[in-house]
Amino acid sequence: IPVEPFDLVVFGATGDLARRKLLPALYHRDLAGQLSDATRIIGVSRRRLSDEDFRCLASDAITGHGDEPDAANLARFLRRLCYVAADAGADDGWPALAARLAEQPEHIRVFYLATAPELFGPICDRLGQAGLAGGTGRVVVEKPIGKSLASARAVNEAVGRHFSEDRIYRIDHYLGKETVQNLMALRFANALFEPLWRAAQIDHVQITVAETLGVEGRAGYYDTAGALRDMVQNHMLQLLCLVAMEPPASLSADAVRDEKLKVLKSLVPIGDGNIHERTVRGQYRAGASRGGPVPGYLEELGDPTSRTETFVALKAEIANWRWAGVPFYLRTGKRLPARVSEIVAQFRPIPFSVFDGSAGPIEANRLVIRLQPDEGVKLWLMIKDPGPGGMRLRHVPLDMSFAKAFGLRNPDAYERLLLDVVRGNQTLFMRRDEVETAWSWIDPILQSWAANPEPPRPYTSGTWGPSAAIALVERDGRSWYEPVE
Ligand code: BG6
Repeated sequence: IPVEPFDLVVFGATGDLARRKLLPALYHRDLAGQLSDATRIIGVSRRRLSDEDFRCLASDAITGHGDEPDAANLARFLRRLCYVAADAGADDGWPALAARLAEQPEHIRVFYLATAPELFGPICDRLGQAGLAGGTGRVVVEKPIGKSLASARAVNEAVGRHFSEDRIYRIDHYLGKETVQNLMALRFANALFEPLWRAAQIDHVQITVAETLGVEGRAGYYDTAGALRDMVQNHMLQLLCLVAMEPPASLSADAVRDEKLKVLKSLVPIGDGNIHERTVRGQYRAGASRGGPVPGYLEELGDPTSRTETFVALKAEIANWRWAGVPFYLRTGKRLPARVSEIVAQFRPIPFSVFDGSAGPIEANRLVIRLQPDEGVKLWLMIKDPGPGGMRLRHVPLDMSFAKAFGLRNPDAYERLLLDVVRGNQTLFMRRDEVETAWSWIDPILQSWAANPEPPRPYTSGTWGPSAAIALVERDGRSWYEPVE
């Protein structure tokens, strides 16, 4: 069923995000019949382009995305596109944008700021001056929302001057991933897990988001961010919240966000007193990735003095009734051996074994939620090894692969999230207080690192980060679960 007709204005329309994610996502939703006939996509950037130029750029973006689009479908999609050149620093273009929007005043208006965050404030000011920020118009902002608590507040203030909180959509694309939403289904649509989902039965949780890519063309941005800001402040803390939160009163946006906020507020602070026991940061050196040689971070960046981390492992703790004493080990990095993201809930061992030694070791249960690739859920259980060989035990997974079970194309996170903006559903978007509370936990870690004269620990590309990351977990008598791609 199509969503209500809308006009989506994409600022930064010629940029990387628009080309790699937004245009292909919209194309796929059009293919699925969800864009009503009058829906339009208006590209905006500083470049002087015609409507036709923008359509060519979009066509390349969609075909370059690995799709082999059907000509008629592509042509129908491209007809929705038009272009306005406007610059947040100049008056030109804004009246033209207002005129385009005035053609269909009844449409829902969405302003997507796919630009550098420094432009969020100036663009919103321009929208305000042009009389475009009122009514039910919505604004979508991408991370990074600031580089610290203070700068995040400044961004939120600047956007908030023109848009009320219920019209601000802060995207964290991890929340749009199928399996991330499945986490809520798994926890709250099954009676099986929730009674066990607590310190009494869960020994610890691991969250790994591993990438094989380096920083490639994004070194300029990445070097000002680093893995903690780029991945942990947002994506990984959001995952941690969904794993740890209490059942919300409903799935309404504020009910879910209230529960996530409580988790963030319960995080045990990490800073000068415990930084060494709690965190490890690394930076990749030359090595091998996917069978070929790759340069180190400093060579890619062209600056041998950078201390930006491309890997971080940390031990978080949540001081509340449900989770006190249960470590949440988080790790993420570039140039790791595999591209895999997963969440592992490691259950406690059985209290007593009735089996004798010949049965073999009894491993504790483990629930593995695989975000990507091969989205799915595995529940590791002990069973009897089949056959007449006596009571021998084996650890095997009850394995549910979504691709095998449903055989459907897995929609990209942006497809879901963009339509949620049009529907006015903020459940999968971050509220201001969440973003700022996450920053207030991250800031002292950044400050402690900055005050430490030691650089990040080097690790060879194609390995699981510095050995100190392994020690971080082994010190507690545990080990990282080795994800396979
Ligand atoms: C982005 C980060 O938010 O997420 C990138 O800025 C990272 O550095 C990307 O590569 C990972 O997203 P995904 O969907 O590929 O896991």
